[in-house]
Amino acid sequence: MSRSRAAARARWARGLPALLALALPPGLAWAETPMDRHLPVALTQTAPPLDPLDPAWDAAPATTIGLFPQATAPDGPGGAVLDLEARLLWGDGRLALRLAWPDATADLVDTRATHRFADAAAVQLAPAAPTLPYVGMGEPGRPVAIWLWRAGGGAEGLSAQGFGSLTNDPGSQPEAKARRTATGWALVLRGPFSPEVAALAVAAWNGSEDGRAGRKRLSAWRRLESPGAEAGGDLSAEAETAGDPARGEQLFARHGCGACHGPDASQGPKLTHAGGIHWPGYLRRAIAEPEAFRVPGFTAVMPALPLSREDTDDLVAYLMSLR
Ligand code: HEC
Repeated sequence: MSRSRAAARARWARGLPALLALALPPGLAWAETPMDRHLPVALTQTAPPLDPLDPAWDAAPATTIGLFPQATAPDGPGGAVLDLEARLLWGDGRLALRLAWPDATADLVDTRATHRFADAAAVQLAPAAPTLPYVGMGEPGRPVAIWLWRAGGGAEGLSAQGFGSLTNDPGSQPEAKARRTATGWALVLRGPFSPEVAALAVAAWNGSEDGRAGRKRLSAWRRLESPGAEAGGDLSAEAETAGDPARGEQLFARHGCGACHGPDASQGPKLTHAGGIHWPGYLRRAIAEPEAFRVPGFTAVMPALPLSREDTDDLVAYLMSLR
């Protein structure tokens, strides 16, 4: 761990009220910090396998990735897939990602039925840059590549610079192979890959339970980490928070943030899972420069308040504790 990273982690830890951590059952107390949000990538000599049952997958470390409802999705929050297991292999210019998750029924693409929906999974790839794009399909000037798989329908490669800007990306067509397991799906998505990719986020839909397209669950960005090459660039500034969450909660009330973001408000996106989906750097930008990026589906009514850097950090630390 580099010194700046260790310092960032220490700053993060200082913000965590020790008593709160002790009072919460293990697993609820900030089990994952943004600095832990990495995904190990194992290297292979040859192209990584497409078959999810290939024994070569045993060499890739397994990471459990939590998925959170996307509160800002046009069709409302929801989503039945709570987490999935990810393994990554990189070799011969290609990245293969094996995802496994529970799903009792296989819902396949059926073009004749308009009221049935297929199981699906998507991977977003973020380019190396000091800041990560908005996790819900990127933002203007911060594009993401997307690999989308639908059960029975194969995979397609897309790119987006914000919600509703999906275009086909001929340069990044992935292959996919899925298998039913005893508990659900095992899927491999394999596509062209360069070390210029910094981070990856995943989403999954359960066709029979989620129905509408917006009812998915989404992960936060995960920084890719491979032995040797430090893929992913330096995201330590993006992960840094020096704030005090208890003071942040007071500031949230004092500045009336809940008028738009509270449980009964509809003007702003719900922030109930902000810490599950977002990184501190994104939240800092959203608070300090609301005009710089508008969350899809909302109007630009978020006020730019004259907050000090300390106040902003405290608000960010509070929001990071919500998930
Ligand atoms: C007048 C209503 C209003 C108030 C008050 C308000 N916001 Fe917002 N906020 C919004 C809207 C609308 C959006 C989405 C549109 C945009 O991004 O500008 C938003 C976006 C956000 C986001 C990004 C959320 C996401 O899901 O990506 C954060 C974080 C945020 N606000 C925090 C705050 C904090 C902290 C305060 C108090 C200091 C606050 N807001 C006060 C309306 C408001």
